[in-house]
Amino acid sequence: MTNTLLILPGDGIGPEVMAEVTRIIDWFGARRGLKFGVSEDLVGGAAYDVHGVPLADATMARAQQVDAVLLGAVGGPKYDSLDFSVKPERGLLRLRKEMDLFANLRPAQCFDALADFSSLKRDVVSGLDIMIVRELTSGVYFGEPRGIFEENGQRVGINTQRYTESEIDRVARAAFELARKRGNKVCSMEKANVMESGILWREVVQAVHDADYPDVELSHMYADAGGMQLCRWPKQFDVIVTDNLFGDLLSDVAAMLTGSLGMLPSASLGAPRANGRPKALYEPVHGSAPDIAGQGKANPCACILSFAMALRYSFDQGDEATRLEQAVEKVLADGVRTADLMQAEGATPVSTRGMGDAILA
Ligand code: NAI
Ligand code: MG
Repeated sequence: MTNTLLILPGDGIGPEVMAEVTRIIDWFGARRGLKFGVSEDLVGGAAYDVHGVPLADATMARAQQVDAVLLGAVGGPKYDSLDFSVKPERGLLRLRKEMDLFANLRPAQCFDALADFSSLKRDVVSGLDIMIVRELTSGVYFGEPRGIFEENGQRVGINTQRYTESEIDRVARAAFELARKRGNKVCSMEKANVMESGILWREVVQAVHDADYPDVELSHMYADAGGMQLCRWPKQFDVIVTDNLFGDLLSDVAAMLTGSLGMLPSASLGAPRANGRPKALYEPVHGSAPDIAGQGKANPCACILSFAMALRYSFDQGDEATRLEQAVEKVLADGVRTADLMQAEGATPVSTRGMGDAILA
């Protein structure tokens, strides 16, 4: 099977961090015999400058066909005054919507060398490697009715938490599939004690497990208790699957367990394509960082680790993903640091390119 990859560097530091990923992709081809059919295209402000829209139709069509899309970042002050319909962010939103990326993957991975960046104690987070799978296209952010209404002489704000069986079923499957490529353990979080949608969530996740993933260890936890456990002893978890609202909160909590924005990868997955691989978009959590763009200061690790996720979850190359993650870990342990990580004494400051060089070496 050929491995197809669409690279969308985007704006600001996007192209700078993506340049390091491209070198790493070339390294895997030359040194590990892992060839990718790579194409590159425009997104965000860069696409607007050329096409007058933040994502051209041809780019959208290509994204639907490839095994994985890897995106840098979009946006910047140059585009802030544009009409909403052509703002850079709309390019990213179009990708997410038309690819129907319903499972948002936010890993919280803490390399030992960066454990002091965490808001928690070193031994609680060092070596942490968990994955939060957040349902992204339904739930209380989308449910109807919603709005601010008049009722008995005062206003009432209403949102509706709503999940269908099939929406729960597909995100549960995504979580179990991921778990098989990791620690083989899923914890599902909801509030089945007080919410009907939580009762259904728990039932469906359990049913999917019993029918098709009995080999994966499954537990259930109330989401509030889950938040507590994430801060108390996060290493008890492997994959956490939860709804849109709880996932929004819990993934931000988990991000702070590990510290720096320049280190955080993410992915969003959709339904499996004909070859069995899910539609997939990988991207760093950070934005285009206009304050440091063009200065060679950006940390490329978040984007590089996003590619490692693509290796593991789109291309079935878990060992090669680990190889890349270990290279990042070693470089950090050696004290190599981009400016955003310059907290430790005795560290060696490097540029974006310097970090790429060290990881390649
Ligand atoms: P940001 O993530 O771009 O930057 C926040 C702060 O973190 C800045 O001080 C920046 O220098 C630093 N930072 C971010 N990534 C870094 C990296 N890899 N290495 C070193 N330092 C890094 O968020 P901000 O400033 O709120 O937004 C800037 C632009 O990016 C806006 O136009 C925003 O709309 C866009 N944005 C795009 C996202 C995306 O493409 N997914 C996500 C978030 C924001
Ligand atoms: Mg949030």
